[in-house]
Amino acid sequence: MTGASLPSRILITGGSGFVGSAIAVRLKQAWPQAHITALDNLKRRGTELIVQRLREHGIEFLHGDVRVREDLPASEYDLLIECSAEPSVLAGYGSSPSYLIDTNLHGLLHCLEWCRERKAGLLFLSTSRIYPVKALAELALEESAERLDIAAQQAISGAGAVGISEDFPLRGHRSLYGATKLAAELMIEEYRAAYGMKAVVNRCGVLAGPWQMGKIDQGVFTFWLLRHYFKQPLAYIGFGGQGKQVRDLLHVDDLADLVLEQSGNLTSWDGEVLNVSGGREISLSLAQASALCRQITGNQLDIASVPENRVMDIPVYYGDCARLFARTTWRPQRDAETILKDTFVWLKKYEMTLKTVF
Ligand SMILES: NC(=O)c1ccc[n+]([C@@H]2O[C@H](COP(=O)([O-])OP(=O)(O)OC[C@H]3O[C@@H](n4cnc5c(N)ncnc54)[C@H](O)[C@@H]3O)[C@@H](O)[C@H]2O)c1
Repeated sequence: MTGASLPSRILITGGSGFVGSAIAVRLKQAWPQAHITALDNLKRRGTELIVQRLREHGIEFLHGDVRVREDLPASEYDLLIECSAEPSVLAGYGSSPSYLIDTNLHGLLHCLEWCRERKAGLLFLSTSRIYPVKALAELALEESAERLDIAAQQAISGAGAVGISEDFPLRGHRSLYGATKLAAELMIEEYRAAYGMKAVVNRCGVLAGPWQMGKIDQGVFTFWLLRHYFKQPLAYIGFGGQGKQVRDLLHVDDLADLVLEQSGNLTSWDGEVLNVSGGREISLSLAQASALCRQITGNQLDIASVPENRVMDIPVYYGDCARLFARTTWRPQRDAETILKDTFVWLKKYEMTLKTVF
């Protein structure tokens, strides 16, 4: 891909997942002439429902697995958007990590080779989970009635009241999931240097919105809303069990708008590794999420309390996106309430179908 020419053939791996499908739909709306293929092995429960949505938008669906090199299409493409993953931070604890490593790491290597062979660009969905757990857990925090926040003064670089920046030190463990993603980032850097591959890496915080098959370990805010909607039990787990732990969130359509901009001019974005997040402004504690979910669904739950922390959990994360904001006018357009309300509308519309998933 050269200059600012628009990609005409785009492959999205994990294309029937939450993020992949939102990006596919956004790109097809903006560039109706583009041929977009969504490849997915339908591992994630509920993603089969998304295949119909892709077809309605004129997106080709290919049943395939990134762990199998031959499953990637043999024809020419300009751009690969890599959204396939085992995305759980709990993956591999108490069970084998082989699926996680085979998909997130070996699968990524297959994607890199596939791009190299046809000189295609790569846009990679990474995660804030590449930042080490222990250093995040040791940050100085401020506590209020509803939430924890990152204090302005820190003993470590890359952290402050606006959040965690890309300068946060990378020493220490980060979860098996986070490690596969950081290893992927490093390999992408090497492919850029060795083969002149054009690539951009978006390190996303929590993403949310319609079509997310939310679970406690991935998609927590959608999960919280679903539990309120279907009146199912919930618990504040860890950090004293008061629901004060905080994450930022970003509407998946905001992310898709950014990916559209980046895909339209990958050469100018080449080499960027950027936090992409809702930031302090669009962040919620679980207690705040409960209040919003109660207001939106009209359902009040008795939420249990489990003081002990879960493995690899951290009290607060919100990303400092100053580096991203310095190079684009793109900004998140939807606040936390809008994100949950949009998800609620989707949930109501597809309630009967979604009941079989959750
Ligand atoms: N959702 C978030 O909050 C979030 C945050 C940060 C980063 N990310 C990253 O964004 C990307 C997309 O995540 P998501 O939220 O859409 O998750 P998702 O589970 O909805 O989508 C992932 C898709 O990959 C597919 N998949 C899994 N293994 C596969 C394999 N071996 N071959 C082909 N397809 C396979 C699944 O069936 C699923 O459709 C992931 O790389 C994830 O790490 C997500």
